[in-house]
Amino acid sequence: MEEKIEEIKGEIALELSEVKTSSELFRLKAKYILGKAGIIPGLMKELGKASKEDRPKLGMVINSLKEWAADYFAKKEAEINEAERNYRYKKEEIDITMPAKRVPQGTYHPVSIVKAELIDIFAGMGFRVLETREIEDDFHNFTALNTPKEHPARDKQDTFYINDDFMLRTHTSPGQIRSLTTIKPPFKVLIPGRVYRADDDATHSPMFHQIEGMVIDKGVTMADLKGTLNTLVRKLYGENTVTRFRPHHFPFTEPSCEMDVQCHKCGGKGCPTCKGEGWIEILGAGMIHPKVLEGCGIDTDVYSGWAFGMGLERLAMRRFKISDLRLIFENDVRFLQQF
Ligand code: DAH
Repeated sequence: MEEKIEEIKGEIALELSEVKTSSELFRLKAKYILGKAGIIPGLMKELGKASKEDRPKLGMVINSLKEWAADYFAKKEAEINEAERNYRYKKEEIDITMPAKRVPQGTYHPVSIVKAELIDIFAGMGFRVLETREIEDDFHNFTALNTPKEHPARDKQDTFYINDDFMLRTHTSPGQIRSLTTIKPPFKVLIPGRVYRADDDATHSPMFHQIEGMVIDKGVTMADLKGTLNTLVRKLYGENTVTRFRPHHFPFTEPSCEMDVQCHKCGGKGCPTCKGEGWIEILGAGMIHPKVLEGCGIDTDVYSGWAFGMGLERLAMRRFKISDLRLIFENDVRFLQQF
């Protein structure tokens, strides 16, 4: 028996000397020391066959083999674990002095920037933001806005009709009707969104953005309108911006006006930027026509209101000194990355 044990020790030592991974080690553990099938546990069975006198001594010898093997395996296991850990550390090593990989970052579109700015300014004055539909019906886009059937704005050349009743909205003003028929006055709303017109050249795009604002309350006057819009322009262009209101005509406001800001380039003398005018038109506005209010079931003896509509592209162009409208829609990243 002792010979056999020496033999087993020799085999274990030999086999373990070649082991390099923990899975190989486990295989050998199974072969020699684990469970009933292991060679060393197998020796215990032979113990039963030995004579009564031999048995205690034999038991001791086998036990000492067991302890020796457990030790031997434990040492090897510690070695292998350490080697494997070192290998993993090496592989996962990070050189924190290496420059980081650049993650490309998006930017906000100039139109989104001015839209967010406007929303911010008006939110500060108590306006809520509404987004109404881009496909409108004839009633909301025209009729309810006091735009009679013969009005040139209805000409098929300006409007993208979908069928006789539906069209892509030509302005955000139908949002006024949607608000007036769903929200109980008094209220203040801001309606930003895309609008569509059959126009396409250096200064017109078939799709562009507007922002509509309206206020309805008791005793609202043109003075409120002027005050609000002047506040807006000063926040956008600076405290010293000079403005003027010019009489104009819109079917859905009475009286109507356009608001101009004095040209920032020439200070009002006239230059290419303002086409020699000294002024740049930035929006249309007015007191909401009583016919519009009454059509929406508002009692005009109690309530009055004002509204304005402005184009965002032109605002963005002025703000960021963009020379050509088409740049705004081409989405060339070299252009967009500048904002
Ligand atoms: N809807 C007009 C347009 O697209 C702009 C406008 C003018 C809106 C006067 C208004 C307003 O709310 O009161 O040209």
